Amino acid sequence: MIEKLKETAEFLKKETGMTPVAGIILGSGLGGLVEEMEISHKIAYEDIPNFPVSTVDGHDGQLIFGRLGGKDVVAMQGRFHYYEGYSMDKVTFPVRVMRLMGVETLFVSNAAGGLNPAFETGDLMIIRDHINMFPDNPLRGPNLDELGTRFPEMSETYCKELIGRAKRIAVDNNIRFQSGVYIGSPGPTLETPAEYRMFHKLGADATGMSTVPEIITARHAGMRCFGISVITNLAEQSEMDKPTTHEEVKSVAGSAAPRMTLIFRELIESL
Ligand code: HPA
Repeated sequence: MIEKLKETAEFLKKETGMTPVAGIILGSGLGGLVEEMEISHKIAYEDIPNFPVSTVDGHDGQLIFGRLGGKDVVAMQGRFHYYEGYSMDKVTFPVRVMRLMGVETLFVSNAAGGLNPAFETGDLMIIRDHINMFPDNPLRGPNLDELGTRFPEMSETYCKELIGRAKRIAVDNNIRFQSGVYIGSPGPTLETPAEYRMFHKLGADATGMSTVPEIITARHAGMRCFGISVITNLAEQSEMDKPTTHEEVKSVAGSAAPRMTLIFRELIESL
């Protein structure tokens, strides 16, 4: 596994000549951030050795290298989801490759369902912490000692300093924001009304089908992490005869993307 990771990282370094300082994972409908980048290379996942290929509608499936906020960055337009059938090794492969390329800080975004009754559709939630409800942990199996320790510490999974800066950026730009706990579960079903209520009782504010595996892997490898959930639908809709569609998720995410992008860009500028 480590050999494949190194091979892919070497390939990308050679293709791009870059050592990105930040990695960005763009969630459903949130790919618009790349329009703010000065792009130097776009590489389709299918052209990258050892990379899985993304299948879901609304995900483009390419790595984009360039500059954002004056820094060299690599962005994943389209991620690999556990519900597509990928193993945890595949879901998290790109994060480990980013680390081997030199990325020190990981920025993650996702579309999520709002559990906290104070949340509104279109809100941005700065992720303060997460709960892993996947039936697996990406670190299960032999430890990759070259990347990190066997028993990673998870007390400050989302970097408090970056969270503080993000809140200041939001206030300075009149962007309404929430902060809260993301609960990640496998999907692809959305939750039943009873499951939404359960997740809220467990202490979560937003629910989605991604992010947790990538963040666990990033922390293992010593990366600083920052994440934003775009609240694309509310748990209460499931009780009100207003079912959530994937179209709605993508369209709400698309309208929130410029606000999320501004926060990511200014945070990256501050690195
Ligand atoms: N549940 C799970 N994943 C999601 C949701 C949701 O309500 N909305 C967007 N992604």
